[in-house]
Amino acid sequence: MSEKSSELQIRSLEDTDLGGITALDEKIGGEYRPEVWERRIGYYLRRDPEASVVAEADGKVVGFMLGEVRSGEFGLEEPTGWIEVLGVDPDYRGQAVGRRLADEMLEHLRRRGATTVRTLVDEEMGGIAEFFEKLGFEPVPMRSFAKRLS
Ligand SMILES: CC(C)(COP(=O)(O)OP(=O)(O)OC[C@H]1O[C@@H](n2cnc3c(N)ncnc32)[C@H](O)[C@@H]1OP(=O)(O)O)[C@@H](O)C(=O)NCCC(=O)NCCS
Repeated sequence: MSEKSSELQIRSLEDTDLGGITALDEKIGGEYRPEVWERRIGYYLRRDPEASVVAEADGKVVGFMLGEVRSGEFGLEEPTGWIEVLGVDPDYRGQAVGRRLADEMLEHLRRRGATTVRTLVDEEMGGIAEFFEKLGFEPVPMRSFAKRLS
């Protein structure tokens, strides 16, 4: 069932968001992973405390988007904003929460000097590619390769 998010607030990530993001990730993916999020939130806050954003409504975290600006990776010399992980509460989807998170984050990445913003999408995770395309992202001719080590 869809809830109204008229009181939605977009703000920078804080270390106290650990519980909210862990709960939201569990709601989306079905797995409780507090140590994963403690590590990730710590990483992004150390790298750039304002780049990553959360959406709060009805006193809880209903969306988050984590990323940063990096240069020189994968042969990309230009300062590049990377969106690395995002999630919106299923009860709050379709209300522009994801779009507002992206607007806020992209504005910050631009101010930090990024000339391009990139992300990697797993084609098997339905809807995420369409979401980024609606936001003006276009597929680029860069393939990801992987090899199992165990
Ligand atoms: C993808 C996701 C972030 C979209 O969030 P959202 O708040 O519902 O998106 P918005 O309402 O801001 O949508 C923005 C645009 O993208 C489109 N869009 C969003 N989800 C879509 C989908 N599943 N299929 C097609 N289009 C979609 C919307 O229609 C909208 O287009 P419009 O502006 O032209 O109307 C959300 O569905 C999600 O969190 N998915 C799971 C992510 C995940 O698994 N993360 C890893 C675990 S944490």
